[in-house]
Amino acid sequence: MDKIVIEGGNRLIGEVTVSGAKNAVLPLMAACLLVDDWCELTNVPELRDIETLKVLLRFMGAEIEEDPAAGKLRIRAGEIKKPEAPYELVKTMRASVLVLGPLVARCKRAKVSLPGGCAIGARPIDLHLMGLEKMGANIEIEHGYVTVSAEHLHGEKIYLDSPTVTGTENLMLAAVYADGETVLENAAMEPEVVCLADALNSMGADITGAGTDTIRISGVKALRPLKHTVIPDRVEAGTFMVASAMTRGNVLIKNCNIMDLETISVKLREAGATVDEEPDGLRVIGHYPIRSVDFRTQPFPGFPTDMQAQMMSMMSVASGLSVILETVFENRFMHVSELKRMGADITINDRTAIVKGVRGLSGAQLMATDLRASASLILAGLVAEGTTEVSRIYHLDRGYEKIEDKLLALGAEIKRVKDNG
Ligand code: EPZ
Repeated sequence: MDKIVIEGGNRLIGEVTVSGAKNAVLPLMAACLLVDDWCELTNVPELRDIETLKVLLRFMGAEIEEDPAAGKLRIRAGEIKKPEAPYELVKTMRASVLVLGPLVARCKRAKVSLPGGCAIGARPIDLHLMGLEKMGANIEIEHGYVTVSAEHLHGEKIYLDSPTVTGTENLMLAAVYADGETVLENAAMEPEVVCLADALNSMGADITGAGTDTIRISGVKALRPLKHTVIPDRVEAGTFMVASAMTRGNVLIKNCNIMDLETISVKLREAGATVDEEPDGLRVIGHYPIRSVDFRTQPFPGFPTDMQAQMMSMMSVASGLSVILETVFENRFMHVSELKRMGADITINDRTAIVKGVRGLSGAQLMATDLRASASLILAGLVAEGTTEVSRIYHLDRGYEKIEDKLLALGAEIKRVKDNG
């Protein structure tokens, strides 16, 4: 296993190019199961979660050609020999459940390991299954697997109790071949959902309303192969925005969709940073003292839960009191205990964190627990006095492409080393 070692105190100066979005690539890869010819994705980042899904697609019988350096990925699900997702794979990446919808739509059945919980919460898929059942699928759960079967899926009006992102994507994927119109109400409005809808429409699907809370999918008989460019990763972009603001840096974040970063920009400006739109992207300039700001995480277009840990790192060294409410996941404060070992002053009460800014953090040996928590520890290390070591960074590698290289190029004193601990 590797760990990342940081000597804190450097300002980040320069420019960084954002990679393709992990949470957009995964549903696009699942969409390739809908057709039997070669599909092509570009701007694909090199991430562990994408490697995991490649293994799963190959397990099912898909062929994969890739040019990782060029960000290109080709997938052909010519013959799906095994419409299944085994426990060994799903347990490492719960987003594997995204194959459910396309498998039922194409193969009329799927057997997928229930994902179980993860570090940040129970992460149920009851809404995914409720929607498939309403569309006519038969659902059986036994031995930790869900088997979904349907001779024909029919269009339905489906209300989602919570605007689940992968639930919206799964049901969109299931509905493209269904008889009639499916209406998803209280649908997720994330940019990754819009990216998937755009890709499916380019294949010949008939989807309207993506990006709003009501998405309509009219079933079609056949689709063309997918050829799509992955949107930039708004969470990676937001992470670098916070990194610049925290280190009194001056960083141009290139290749980002500025509209997708609005709430992050608003909160960073409230905290005293300069956030300016430029032709090539967003420039973030950090100023001290950092002002404490309150925020709550919400489904898009609210403040993203995937940016909560990173923003908390910044609030740890702000000049006042910040109240953070995590409304999406029930256990997304795993980073707090590690930040407190660096000297942060944080009190948790259920889903609320009260962060009292301190003058400075001190470097420490830390352990990552989940993807975004590990990013927050890296950010804290950038401003901490002395050396910070973050172990178990396989969590980080799930969602950030070469983050230490990108931070090094911006002036951070950071390196990846073998962790023999
Ligand atoms: C997606 O997860 C993202 N993952 C997550 O990113 C992100 O944090 C999350 O959306 C929220 O924005 C991918 O897109 C691959 P949800 P997802 O279903 O779809 C409840 C990262 O760091 N819910 O929108 O699994 C659920 O418990 C990851 O990149 C149900 O109750 O999240 C949660 O409270 C972490 N029943 C809320 O909805 C369901 O059937 C939102 O979950 C589904 C969800």
